[in-house]
Amino acid sequence: MIEGAEPFGITMGKGSIVAGCLAPHPPHLVYAENPEQNEPKSEGGWEQLRWGYERLRDSIKDVDYDVIVILSPHWQTYVGTHFIGVEHCKSKSVDPVFPNLFRFNYDLQIDVELARSIHDEAKSKGMSVKMMENPDFRVDYGTIVSCHMVRPEWDKPIVSISSNRSLSYYSVEVMQEMMIELGKSTAKAIEKSGKKCLLLASNSLSHRHFVTETNPPEDMSKEHITSHAMHLWDMRMIDLMKQGKSQQIVNEMPEFCEQAIAEADGGAFTWILSAMGMPKQPATLHGYGTIIGTGNAIVEWPCYKWGDV
Ligand SMILES: [Fe+2]
Repeated sequence: MIEGAEPFGITMGKGSIVAGCLAPHPPHLVYAENPEQNEPKSEGGWEQLRWGYERLRDSIKDVDYDVIVILSPHWQTYVGTHFIGVEHCKSKSVDPVFPNLFRFNYDLQIDVELARSIHDEAKSKGMSVKMMENPDFRVDYGTIVSCHMVRPEWDKPIVSISSNRSLSYYSVEVMQEMMIELGKSTAKAIEKSGKKCLLLASNSLSHRHFVTETNPPEDMSKEHITSHAMHLWDMRMIDLMKQGKSQQIVNEMPEFCEQAIAEADGGAFTWILSAMGMPKQPATLHGYGTIIGTGNAIVEWPCYKWGDV
């Protein structure tokens, strides 16, 4: 046998999470970037956040990874957690609230093998899970916006995970318990896969938004946080991330979700912290800004620098 080769039939193992990121998905960001895939055109806007995404892309440009694993609060499945199980997805994604900003022609590849491994791992832990195998399924705009802003080349396959919305039907405690288990299952399946993965939690922080739109939507003289209370919550969460206090974030999640109407209610934030093993290492803040009054942070946990955790 060639030295270093894997004996036939033995699982490769030792896959890893190279980094985890908070990657918010308001469609305004893609609208402001004017990529060719998006039909509406803009005069820019929300630069603070787009520069933040630039810094994130620059930070990970030399990090080698095989696949992006993303959980989006806008693929809402009320019975269990679902995974896209179709290898090639091509269609038009339209934001139902902002069709004037986001009509995006996407063409992406799914790593069905890894999706199924995470599904199987979670199932073995008693979670309610399902592979989504409808070939006409339309990928949600949260997944598309976050992936586009992190990797506009669209040259990596993704694993797309739904949001079970268990906070809505049960409680924030049930949501957290399930997302902590899903995070552990995600990490375990990734390790067994032998693949290097970039994890994205696709969500804003505080999520109280304006109910009227300015003309044009990218008029930045009108953009600000909706209230001081929302600002204080966002700053508190950013401070905890920068200090590496992941467990405290999870502990404070019930108050954060309730008082800041946080988009972490979809579970992505808890899931990613759990998948990374509740990191104590400081996270890197690449940018913060508001979009229609909501608070958005672009944050990276550079796991590749930590060695085995
Ligand atoms: Fe959203």
